[in-house]
Amino acid sequence: MNVRFLGHACFELSDGDTRVLIDPFLTGNPKAAASAEEQSPSAVLLTHGHHDHVGDTVAIAKRSGAKVVAITELAGELGGEGLDAIDCNLGGTATFDWGTVKLVPAWHTSTTPKGTVNTPAGLLVDFKGTLIYHLGDTCLFSDMQLVGRRRQIDIALMCIGGHYTMDRFDAVDAAAFVGARTVIPCHYGTFPPIETDAAAFKADVESATSSKVVILEPGQSHQA
Ligand code: NI
Ligand code: MN
Repeated sequence: MNVRFLGHACFELSDGDTRVLIDPFLTGNPKAAASAEEQSPSAVLLTHGHHDHVGDTVAIAKRSGAKVVAITELAGELGGEGLDAIDCNLGGTATFDWGTVKLVPAWHTSTTPKGTVNTPAGLLVDFKGTLIYHLGDTCLFSDMQLVGRRRQIDIALMCIGGHYTMDRFDAVDAAAFVGARTVIPCHYGTFPPIETDAAAFKADVESATSSKVVILEPGQSHQA
């Protein structure tokens, strides 16, 4: 499978047949590697309701007919906009013909631009057998070590930018807790407050843990 970084916290998971988009903030994203009009996923997965994560969800899902996975209150708002939204809560799993999406905790806040208060989540995605953990926006917390307790995580998509989330130093501890084979950093460099040194993060993680860090520029892909 292919993991393509589209900028900020947005990733596309794909193989020959299936496309899944996570946190499609493209319009207004200074680092977006694609436009919303180019996206036609079969599912959109959301970590939380902040604008830099929900992004173009409504436009993309209306055009492509994608199902949207989001935590209950956010799914309720999107369902009210006419989307086919699956309203899991923390611990719940949405099932697709290509795999599953489980909502797991993240420590953050979230209110949508329309005012819907919603609890942020991380996403544990089984995409045709590859296990991907998008941590969402979060600080460091010890329970993230539980996410991969039953099954080895292949790829962690991890915020490192600081200011709104954990910084690259706390993210080294997060990488140790998560224990993924591969860590791909995100949520940095999009705006001045979240600029950071991703190469230093890579060096620190690879000296402190057995995880490999793959730094993707927006538009680049990782083959898993
Ligand atoms: Ni956020
Ligand atoms: Mn964010």
